[in-house]
Amino acid sequence: MNIGLLGGSFDPFHKGHESLIDGALRSGIVDAVIVIPSGRNPFKSGRNVTAAPYRYYMTKGAVEEDFKGRNVFVSDIELTYSGTSFTLTTIKEISKATYIRAFLKANGIKGSKAEENHTFYWISGSDVLPTFEKWHKADEILKIAGLLIASRPGDGVDVNKEIIRLENVFGFVPDIDVFEIDGIEAASSEIRKDKDFSDTPKFVEEFIKTHDLYPEVDPLNLASDEAVEKFGEDAIKLYRFLGQKRLLHTLNVGILSLKYAGIYDKSLCDKALIAGELHDCAKELDEALQLQMAKERSGDLFLDKKLIHSPAGAVMAQREFNITDPEILDAITYHTTGRGGMTLLDKIVYLADKLEPSRTYADLTRERILAKTDIDEALKMCVKSVKKKFESRGQQIHPITIDFMNDLGL
Ligand SMILES: [Fe+2]
Ligand SMILES: [Fe+2]
Repeated sequence: MNIGLLGGSFDPFHKGHESLIDGALRSGIVDAVIVIPSGRNPFKSGRNVTAAPYRYYMTKGAVEEDFKGRNVFVSDIELTYSGTSFTLTTIKEISKATYIRAFLKANGIKGSKAEENHTFYWISGSDVLPTFEKWHKADEILKIAGLLIASRPGDGVDVNKEIIRLENVFGFVPDIDVFEIDGIEAASSEIRKDKDFSDTPKFVEEFIKTHDLYPEVDPLNLASDEAVEKFGEDAIKLYRFLGQKRLLHTLNVGILSLKYAGIYDKSLCDKALIAGELHDCAKELDEALQLQMAKERSGDLFLDKKLIHSPAGAVMAQREFNITDPEILDAITYHTTGRGGMTLLDKIVYLADKLEPSRTYADLTRERILAKTDIDEALKMCVKSVKKKFESRGQQIHPITIDFMNDLGL
């Protein structure tokens, strides 16, 4: 098959990307398009780009909805290999026979079509041509893949002239094909700036709302560069350990924890971001392993199936994510039960876990409003409903949760 690869930040994925994909397929030059949201982008990291799992799942959902039945797929390859995601690295990784065959089969491409030797094209707008030779190892890219260039009427790039120029620069004839495109033109940077999401697919618009992406004031401004970098890097790492729903939940908890720290104690911002992000990191590990880690952290304090992921999470935060700060480790350990003498960081993570924007288990409007002005009152409301739930089910409340309730005067 001829396979077009469309890499990008997709921050957010928009209708311009969709018309690019549609144009590439209609050109007949490629039989399929694989969309590849960036992982460790060499030019954008930390606060310059939304954490990769958000962009990956946003793009995947939109493609699945809008290109149903057509050969358009989304690959997580840049979230799975370590190191910087250069275009060359990604093309090399994706074109490995074992990867691409398994990927195509998993996406419904049957038998010999998936098995054959494939030809790859990197899809780009014509604006990349005048400086393409400056790309990281540009000549190597062109030796293993072609370029599939979208040309817009009046875009000011003389494609044929550029192709000849690149032949001279590289000393060989690169495989460059062109298709015309006249669909929607949009820019992610403008969409982020204007907060006007009408040029994004319906799925993306909903996704942005659900996870409160691109808010008026970016909460990441509250955290240090190092913490924001770590948040982005750990988000990619967490992708290995958590499924979609829980991963997005735990990232949301990180950001909401950061917001609460910004309100109640700015010195806790970095710790809140990271503790929130990692609070559920162990929840999808093998249960026996969780139990073993829980015992390692807290002895016999937590043996219940629902509670072990919290102390296990602290152990995992140490091992996998290099966390040594005891306050962060405690906030993770006690995020499910609470404890007597909760620190402010404990309270922040506990509350953010209950109230992050994608939570829909109850109408949380009042709690969310209260959380911005009186953290103890908001906690009281949340813990009261936890208490009710336990009582109605006739379940025992953990003794340290009772200590927590006593502290709150419940
Ligand atoms: Fe949890
Ligand atoms: Fe959680």
